[in-house]
Amino acid sequence: PLIRREDYRPFPWLVPEIALDFDLGLEATKVTATLTVARNARADTSQVIRLNGDGLQPLSVAVDGELVNDWTMDGGDLMLPLPGEAHEVAIVTEIDPSANSQLMGLYASNGMLCTQCEAEGFRRITFFPDRPDVLSIYRVRMEGPKAQFPILLSNGNKIAEGEGEGGRHWAEWHDPWPKPSYLFALVAGDLVARSDSFTTMSGREVALNVWVRAEDLPRTGHAMESLKKSMKWDEEVFGREYDLDLFNIVAVGDFNMGAMENKGLNVFNTKYVLADPETATDGDFDAIEGVIAHEYFHNWSGNRVTCRDWFQLSLKEGFTVLRDQLFSQDMQGEAVKRIEDVRVLRSVQFPEDSGPLAHPIRPDSFREISNFYTATIYNKGAEVIRMMRTMAGPAAFRQGTDLYFERHDGEAATCEDFVRAMEDGAGLDLTKFRLWYSQAGTPKVSADLSHEGEVATLTLRQQVPPTPGQPAKHPMPVPLKLALFDRETGTHRGEQLVMLDGAEKTIAFEGFAQPPVLSINRSFSAPVSIERHVPREDLVFLAARDDDAFARSEAMQELVVGHLVAAAGEGLDENERSEGRAAIREALTAILVDPGLDDLMRGELMVLPGETYLAEQMLIADPGRIHAERESLKAWLAGELGRELRDIHARASSVPYSLDRAARGARKVKTLALSLLAAGDPERTADLAAGQYDAADNMTDRQGALMVLAGFPSAARTDRLIDFYRRYRENPLVIDKWFSLQAMSLHPDAIEHVKALRQHEDFTLRNPNRVRALYMAFAGNPHAFHAASGEGYRMIADMILELDPINSQTAARFVSPLGRWRRMEPGRAALMRGELERIAAATGLSRDTREQVTRSLG
Ligand code: ARG
Ligand code: ZN
Repeated sequence: PLIRREDYRPFPWLVPEIALDFDLGLEATKVTATLTVARNARADTSQVIRLNGDGLQPLSVAVDGELVNDWTMDGGDLMLPLPGEAHEVAIVTEIDPSANSQLMGLYASNGMLCTQCEAEGFRRITFFPDRPDVLSIYRVRMEGPKAQFPILLSNGNKIAEGEGEGGRHWAEWHDPWPKPSYLFALVAGDLVARSDSFTTMSGREVALNVWVRAEDLPRTGHAMESLKKSMKWDEEVFGREYDLDLFNIVAVGDFNMGAMENKGLNVFNTKYVLADPETATDGDFDAIEGVIAHEYFHNWSGNRVTCRDWFQLSLKEGFTVLRDQLFSQDMQGEAVKRIEDVRVLRSVQFPEDSGPLAHPIRPDSFREISNFYTATIYNKGAEVIRMMRTMAGPAAFRQGTDLYFERHDGEAATCEDFVRAMEDGAGLDLTKFRLWYSQAGTPKVSADLSHEGEVATLTLRQQVPPTPGQPAKHPMPVPLKLALFDRETGTHRGEQLVMLDGAEKTIAFEGFAQPPVLSINRSFSAPVSIERHVPREDLVFLAARDDDAFARSEAMQELVVGHLVAAAGEGLDENERSEGRAAIREALTAILVDPGLDDLMRGELMVLPGETYLAEQMLIADPGRIHAERESLKAWLAGELGRELRDIHARASSVPYSLDRAARGARKVKTLALSLLAAGDPERTADLAAGQYDAADNMTDRQGALMVLAGFPSAARTDRLIDFYRRYRENPLVIDKWFSLQAMSLHPDAIEHVKALRQHEDFTLRNPNRVRALYMAFAGNPHAFHAASGEGYRMIADMILELDPINSQTAARFVSPLGRWRRMEPGRAALMRGELERIAAATGLSRDTREQVTRSLG
């Protein structure tokens, strides 16, 4: 059924307390749930209580201590007649965690038991009002064989434990903070902890543990450091203090998403916990720091203040992503982090916003909430709150967030509550700004600068494109940071924030004898796409000297995007091609040799726009032409700048391994130089890459070299792939990399490689990391996925059909690459659509996949 935001009604019952008793077993776990229920005076009265269930059968139901039989089932839900004001309801169920391949609810992973309840997994454990606006205090008792489950964890504090008969033991946990069911967690298994402690600003000593399997213990140091930094930062920057004496993190190898913020017991995908220089790249280290922070920050933005219903998901996710982005900016440097965050937004969220799955950050309806854990809810949601921060300034923004936390602590709130707190606390008028919550689609803003006499005139126009269900749009307030550069001096007269708050705005700037150079949407102050017609030399100018690092990288990107879109679109004549290329060479040379740049930033400027983003810039894209043009530009640049690139590679290779900025920057430019060189001279570069691989004393260098080698046939390729596999065959996270490198390679036979890897003994559809390692990498590899034969599309569709009965949530995530069909040239469009239709025709499709396929077909 379609669930609508406007249909929200408060639940007729309150459940102030719940006691859960688990008799643990991998194949059979018996769950006794005892609920204290009372009428909700703020809701309509009802004589029955609906307790959500998914695949459960009650073994017994008791009300106030008496067994009852007058309950019925409605779908998976238990409907229990309940007259009167307050009762105790006790229900016994039994579940089989080992059979739970969906990884929602209570499941087995590597011999341990763990839970994932967000969004609607709790109803797979016991019958309960499984909605985020029902908050309860949890008391959890669990018991099981001690040898199998030596560690027993749940939310809050451990209040008792003991030994039982026949090698059994038990533990009792109590969480003093009322929470919705999606924040419940339980873990039981053979785990060891890295332990530490943190003293909060008011002097509370918090015990910290990162729980992993024994062999992974040496790789937990970075996660622990990241946790302590996050706790400190949230106190300093947002005034948020931790509120329990214990904080546990558990790493699990089988996990649908990145991690989960369960109160006091965060459960993580191992990918976002385990790291050491030998097995994790610099990117992995950063991602771990960011995800640890994200989940920790949820303790306030998500747990203390939670969501009224799932339409408000961005209330916690958008805000928490912004918080983790600001944290990482402070840890790693603002400019590089901002460029990376915008790159993700544009390569994932922009396509979503312009495709069949477009939805506002606060959706109006859905069928399956798991499908709405999207880049729009998360990343665009973060951009929307970032705009408020830009308009208010950091100090006033902080007053707004303080007010929000103070007003809504302990409540299940809405996006509207957040906006109102921002108006009252930060002093903003967000009347029109609310459109950002209700309208989908990436606004297009055109910027035209004209010059006459001493006056430069800027004309801004915006247009919000139609999206499914939203044919006509209103203009939205768009905060644009801009600066006008004086061509002669290379300086500007100060940055200013311009609000484009209608369809059009004209601004005059006086005192420019010469036409200035416009730098606009600096630091990406608004998540819009800017359309401006500027002379190429202005972009070269900005790429060389804009003092806003983001704007500088933006100019470089625009220079390349403009060239490649024209080349892959209407085509270029010889003259246009060589002028375009020369401008790019000039800008790139300046970047390669600029002594004022640190290598991390230089690396950002060297990254060419991706093929998905290029396709996004074209009304109808031909992925084959885009790929060919982009590769040919790389080859040409490699030929022109071979010496500079080899110099960079040699210089960077002499920097010893460390995690400091300079060394990380060196590793970044080293592999970027290598991959550019590979396009120009594969043979010579194969030697260079093999050398980098053999000399590597860390995963960043080793993976970078192997990525380049995987791209073309050579003896070095085969040797190093075999070596890599042998070295790391015991480490699943590294073997994931091995699958990914081959699936995303530029090798002409990448499709064949993926087919063979599907049959590899280490491949399994049961582990989401492994599935993503092979197939997300493949779907993100344009030359293979978009093979003109349609074979790439067929492989993804086959996999979706096979995975759907096993893990529907993960299967449904692979639909969106096929959903881009409307924007492809007719041949591929028909093939993609055909695969979607084939999936749609399958019987027994999950609600998750059904919804995505139906929306994609439109
Ligand atoms: N709230 C988690 C986060 O930190 C995501 C969990 C979503 N899980 C799911 N199965 N949909 O972003
Ligand atoms: Zn989150």
